Amino acid sequence: MQVLLEAARAAFENAHAPYSRFRVGAALRSGSGRIFAGANVENASYPEGNCAEASAIAALVAAGEREITEALVMAEGAALCTPCGGCRQRLAEFAGPGLPVHLCDPQGLRRTVTLGELLPLSFSLDGAANPSGGKARSALAVIRGRAPDFTPRVGLILGSGLGGIADAIEDATVLDYADLPGFPRPGVEGHAGRLVLGRLGDAGVACLQGRVHLYEGVPARAVNALPRTLKALGCEILILTNAAGSLRPEIEPGAIALIEDHINLLGQNPLVGANDAATGPRFPDMSEVYDGELRERARRVAKRLGVPLRAGVYLATLGPCFETPAEIRAFRALGADLVGMSTVPEAISARHAGLKVLGLSIVTNLAAGLAPHPLSHEETLTQAAGAAATLERLLRGLLEDLAHDDANAT
Ligand code: HPA
Repeated sequence: MQVLLEAARAAFENAHAPYSRFRVGAALRSGSGRIFAGANVENASYPEGNCAEASAIAALVAAGEREITEALVMAEGAALCTPCGGCRQRLAEFAGPGLPVHLCDPQGLRRTVTLGELLPLSFSLDGAANPSGGKARSALAVIRGRAPDFTPRVGLILGSGLGGIADAIEDATVLDYADLPGFPRPGVEGHAGRLVLGRLGDAGVACLQGRVHLYEGVPARAVNALPRTLKALGCEILILTNAAGSLRPEIEPGAIALIEDHINLLGQNPLVGANDAATGPRFPDMSEVYDGELRERARRVAKRLGVPLRAGVYLATLGPCFETPAEIRAFRALGADLVGMSTVPEAISARHAGLKVLGLSIVTNLAAGLAPHPLSHEETLTQAAGAAATLERLLRGLLEDLAHDDANAT
């Protein structure tokens, strides 16, 4: 920030504004970390002058750079000087809506806003218009700003009551979903809403601690930001974890189960709406959502560690109510072994984006009608916390196994 301030101050001092006497300096940080500054340049046909931001952008482009990760604008006066409409759009050519824009005067910082907050809604890079989204790209810019050289191979989404696994991540860089454009914020207890980048079991992971559920009222497409950002970060594999009810007494509460396939009874799909062909095909194949090789690997690692691993088909319901006993009987007739309110949207989105998926459930209860007592979210959280240490051991083992492959390949 200091280096941006100094570059903008020098440009501000040199601004050519003899007609308006309103000098402006701007400084930009490029994707590779270089700083480019610009000043406003007026001429006698005063409205035809060059804005400071436009000058800085021109310098950045002339140097061969095509990404802006941070911007600073400096001017004097009581009112904050924000980039004009034209410059907002110019900035949006090279940055997403999460771009931090520092509004300063020569004394220092007055306020930081994001480009998205400055852009009129109809001009924003919201993923609704481009579902791949502008959002994945701009969340990526924020992440890259914090961890420029971190390229994890594995993404991990932690389900209800399993967020504590993120505490085991070493050399962690933590980002709040609130700072990641397009990341829907979970509103349910047991879901923190943080991205934790670091090392687990000797492998680089991008761990999403908490997820939104469709029963919170978010549209299914909101989920796309998570897998797509992981993919853009460089992940090849997405491990999805959740808490689930069991439809089979032999898949007992406290057990860990491998998801072999799913049944989507959410009545929604994250890929509904315009398709971005650059992300994936309009009609993606779903004949092997949960990667066979990864499932085999998980079985092998679990056996080596002595972790009993059950397996079954996961059926997703919208929730938020737990199911009725009649629904559970119906789901069993459909071929389901596990039931829950998550995972399927992320799995669909991840497959669409070309990620390999592995799904692991912690069985927190026998499903409605099979359990001798009513179901509750408290039971889900307590049971999930009880089995979290075992799941963490399995995840570490898996990541070590994957890292071992990488080491052999190099
Ligand atoms: N039903 C739906 N979701 C769940 C359950 C259940 O029994 N247990 C944990 N999540």
